[in-house]
Amino acid sequence: MPIRPARRITDTSPKNFGMFAKAVGRTGDLIHLELGMPAEDTPQHIKDATIAALQRGAVHYSDLQGLPELRSALADKLRRQNKLDVTADNVLITNGLTQGSFAAFMAFLDHGDEALLLAPYYPQHIGKAELAGAKVTIAPLDAENGFSINRALIEPHITSATRAIALINPCNPTGRVYTRDELQVIADLAQEHDLLVISDEVYEEITYDATHISIASLPGMKARTISMFAFTKAYAMDGWRLGYVVADSDLMGPLMKITTNEVTHVNTFIQHGALAAVTGDPSILAGMVARDRTRRDLVIGRLNQMPGVTCATVEGTIYAFPDITATGLTAQNCADRLLEETGVVVEAGSFYGDAGEGHLRVCFGCAEIDVLTDAMDRMQRFFNGL
Ligand SMILES: Cc1ncc(COP(=O)(O)O)c(C=O)c1O
Repeated sequence: MPIRPARRITDTSPKNFGMFAKAVGRTGDLIHLELGMPAEDTPQHIKDATIAALQRGAVHYSDLQGLPELRSALADKLRRQNKLDVTADNVLITNGLTQGSFAAFMAFLDHGDEALLLAPYYPQHIGKAELAGAKVTIAPLDAENGFSINRALIEPHITSATRAIALINPCNPTGRVYTRDELQVIADLAQEHDLLVISDEVYEEITYDATHISIASLPGMKARTISMFAFTKAYAMDGWRLGYVVADSDLMGPLMKITTNEVTHVNTFIQHGALAAVTGDPSILAGMVARDRTRRDLVIGRLNQMPGVTCATVEGTIYAFPDITATGLTAQNCADRLLEETGVVVEAGSFYGDAGEGHLRVCFGCAEIDVLTDAMDRMQRFFNGL
């Protein structure tokens, strides 16, 4: 008899890797703009601090919640920058944001609960909610209104079983950075319906013409929000797998029950690198975001010159989300044809739910200017020829 996997495996939607899965292993002249993998290198002072920690023997088990000095530096940053009234005890270091959000879904959702996602959504949240035994419900935001948060579009999807709402701010894939008024809509709904907010803020540092606000800083929200951050995007540390979760003390115990059973704690010596990132010269981070801004301006400017394509400005993140409805192509068909006919790999907006149909997600933060220019030239020729 074959060994049977657990029901939590067979009952969970298969993880879909979208265009990445179609492009991987292909040879030829491909330009990969489908994954959010930063083009920048991790800053040298972060590497140096990590190597120094390794050399001086930071190779043993350490604090289960994360290095106290790192959590303390992060608490300073969270008080100053995110306006969150927290101490080091409210910070849990995780293996990327991914582990933090897994812990959040696993620790607070039961069988029979519903987790509400705003669409376009981040597909990974579906698998996590389902592994926790919950049912995923979707509130589609409206492209016509720039994917803004609108109470009338969300509230009808809240039922007596809804336990949590997942928020991504700044939003992958739309590039929106939500205003205080938009966040207040989520805060009001969460308080009225007694919901937990699972707030993914992985792009908090990468904003251009907008200010990122942490929803947990709104009145009444700290006790019902799990805020999740990572070093991944802003510091180009995606391969390091380093993030952190911020939660009230009542929520921290359940989260740690998941993480300690799963991994005990995060690698000790790389946490010293994270400390160098948080306490380092802020102009290094600012320089990286400035280079992303140049990439953004190039890509959005070029996309808007292509027939049938319109692209709203991107307030944050490293993605453009152009509307291609006027071409008459579906998002998937367009992404497939771009791969086949031009070698440019972008993600179909429908990968992020039906609300993303008619759009492409183009990562501008994952390539240097000459590569982006080549990709835009190829896309221009493709759209000219339709
Ligand atoms: C919205 C969002 N959340 C989480 C992640 C994953 O973050 P990490 O690599 O820190 O686990 C990504 C990566 O693209 C993302 O876009």
